[in-house]
Amino acid sequence: MHEEALTRWQRGWSASRGWTDYQQVDDVTVVRVGEPQRRVQYVATEQNATAAAHLALTDCHPPGTSWLTIATDDPDRLAAGLKPLEAIRTQWLMTISLAEQATYPVPAPYILEVSETPSVIDVRICGYGEVAASGRMAVLHTGAVADMITTDPAHRRRGLARAVMTALAQAASTRTAYLSASPDGRPLYESLGWTTLIPVLVARTAGTSPT
Ligand SMILES: CC(C)(COP(=O)(O)OP(=O)(O)OC[C@H]1O[C@@H](n2cnc3c(N)ncnc32)[C@H](O)[C@@H]1OP(=O)(O)O)[C@@H](O)C(=O)NCCC(=O)NCCS
Repeated sequence: MHEEALTRWQRGWSASRGWTDYQQVDDVTVVRVGEPQRRVQYVATEQNATAAAHLALTDCHPPGTSWLTIATDDPDRLAAGLKPLEAIRTQWLMTISLAEQATYPVPAPYILEVSETPSVIDVRICGYGEVAASGRMAVLHTGAVADMITTDPAHRRRGLARAVMTALAQAASTRTAYLSASPDGRPLYESLGWTTLIPVLVARTAGTSPT
C-alpha cells in the first residue's frame, strides 16, 4: 500500500508548508496545521482510513477544518465509505529518482531565480514583469518532495513548469523524490518520467470552513 512512500511524502510536504508539529496516533499521522481553514491534517493508508475518519469526526475542530489524505486503490469506493466526511478530490502519489528526471531549459525571455534554505528550495521563473511560474522542493533525509508547482494561467504551455521541475531537481541533486499530483499536474510529471504509485483521496469534515 506504499506506506513508506506516503510517510516520506508527508514528511516533505509538512516541511515545505512549515507544519512541523506531527505525531502518529493509531497508525495515522496527525499534522497540527493550525490554519483557520485547515486546523489538522490526517494522513493514512486505506487500511487505517477508519481510524483516521474516527479521529476527524471526534476532534474538537470547527466543521470543514479537519482534512484527510488517504492512499487508496479505489478513491470512489473509499469516498462512499467515509461519509459523512466530504470527498474533495483525488490526487496521485508519484515518485522518481531525480537523476532520471528529463531536463528542460528555461525558455527565453524568462529568467530563473533559485533560493535555498538547508531544507527547502524555492524556484521562481519571472518574465514580462511578473512571476510566471514557481515551485518548491523540501529536501530531507527521507527524500525530496515537490510542492506548490504553479504556472500563472497567462504563461502556461510554454514549458515553464518543466523548467521549474528541472531547476528543483538540479538543486536537490540525486535523491528519490515524491509529490502528490493534481489532475493538471499528473500529465506534466509523467512527461518528465515520474511514476504513479497510488491515488490519494483528499477529504474533510463536512461543513463550511470559516473565512
Ligand atoms: C500543471 C501546470 C503547473 C503546468 O504548467 P505549464 O507551465 O503549463 O506546464 P509546461 O508548459 O511545462 O508543460 C509541460 C508538459 O506537461 C504536459 N502538460 C502540462 N499541462 C498539461 C495539461 N493541463 N494537460 C495535459 N498535459 C499537460 C504536457 O506534456 C506539456 O508539454 P506540451 O505543452 O509540449 O504538450 C499548470 O497547468 C498549473 O499551474 N496548474 C494549476 C496548479 C496545479 O495543478 N499544479 C500542479 C500541482 S501538483
